Amino acid sequence: MSTESDEVARALDILRAGGLVGLPTETVYGLAGDATNEAAVRRIFAAKGRPADHPLIVHIEDVSAMASWAAAVPPSAATLTAACWPGPLTVLVPRADHVLDVVTGGRDTVGLRVPAHPMALDLLQRFGGGVAAPSANRFGRVSPTTAAHVRADLGDLVDLVLDGGPCPVGVESTIVDCTVSPPQILRSGGIPDEDVATILDIAAASGPSRASGMLASHYAPTARVELAASLAAAEARAGELAESGLRVDVLDPTGDLALAAHDLFSRLREADARRLDVVVAVMPPAIGLGHAIRDRLRKAAGLG
Ligand code: TXA
Ligand code: MG
Repeated sequence: MSTESDEVARALDILRAGGLVGLPTETVYGLAGDATNEAAVRRIFAAKGRPADHPLIVHIEDVSAMASWAAAVPPSAATLTAACWPGPLTVLVPRADHVLDVVTGGRDTVGLRVPAHPMALDLLQRFGGGVAAPSANRFGRVSPTTAAHVRADLGDLVDLVLDGGPCPVGVESTIVDCTVSPPQILRSGGIPDEDVATILDIAAASGPSRASGMLASHYAPTARVELAASLAAAEARAGELAESGLRVDVLDPTGDLALAAHDLFSRLREADARRLDVVVAVMPPAIGLGHAIRDRLRKAAGLG
């Protein structure tokens, strides 16, 4: 049996050699490569089947490392990261000159994040540089929240999957564009929209922009996803569909929202493992982690 620390040492060697590592974070597993190695970054896009114009988040070891990736740190980024890092927050800041175009999709901003997962932090601290990592799923599919999900999606395309257990948060980081005023939430995620608004002292109304084409991934299982406003409505609809001969189940992420977020992507993957035709999902309230869950369900339903 190798220890966790041995595994991280292997991952380090692989990153330094330009290879790819399945990286546990508190949100979802990432597909990690050295952000300064262009060939490694290209390998990430190839493994995911992801279009080149979708930029990657650079994962760094702490707040102070932001200065080596950003041309300038806007006050809003300094405030947010001081409050939320390590944690499920990504800030977009003006990029430093050396940041590869292949990482940013040629944009003049870069997304930065310090993940709150002990294995990820251990790796980042020992690596010392930046690790580019999108979610470790095939493009458009459901994000992985266990090491087994990563292996199922990417198999031999990843050199090593670090097993850090199931991701505690279960939905991706909240992305805030700190290059505009007021800062704008581009993707709801593990830090609730209300918390971002409170920390920045801005109106919660400046919440997720539906306009961001860059973020139109689908998080979709093979099963069709339908949305329902209540459990009663979902059960009625599921009954109808079952009667017409379809394999259907109800997904009800409305109780404990932290638990619902934690389980969401596993449930969607299970739907495919069970060969369901349709999942009827109850929309949770638009509060706290409910924002992120609603967003992922809308995307899974093709309404994103
Ligand atoms: O929780 C997370 O954020 C996970 C873990 C692995 O850190 N990562 C993740 O990465 O969800 P990804 O690539 O699956 O989603 C990041 C999103 C993409 O839609 C990408 O287009 C957008 O962020 N993005 C990244 N950098 C950007 C930039 N400079 N400008 C605009 N959008 C950006
Ligand atoms: Mg993704």
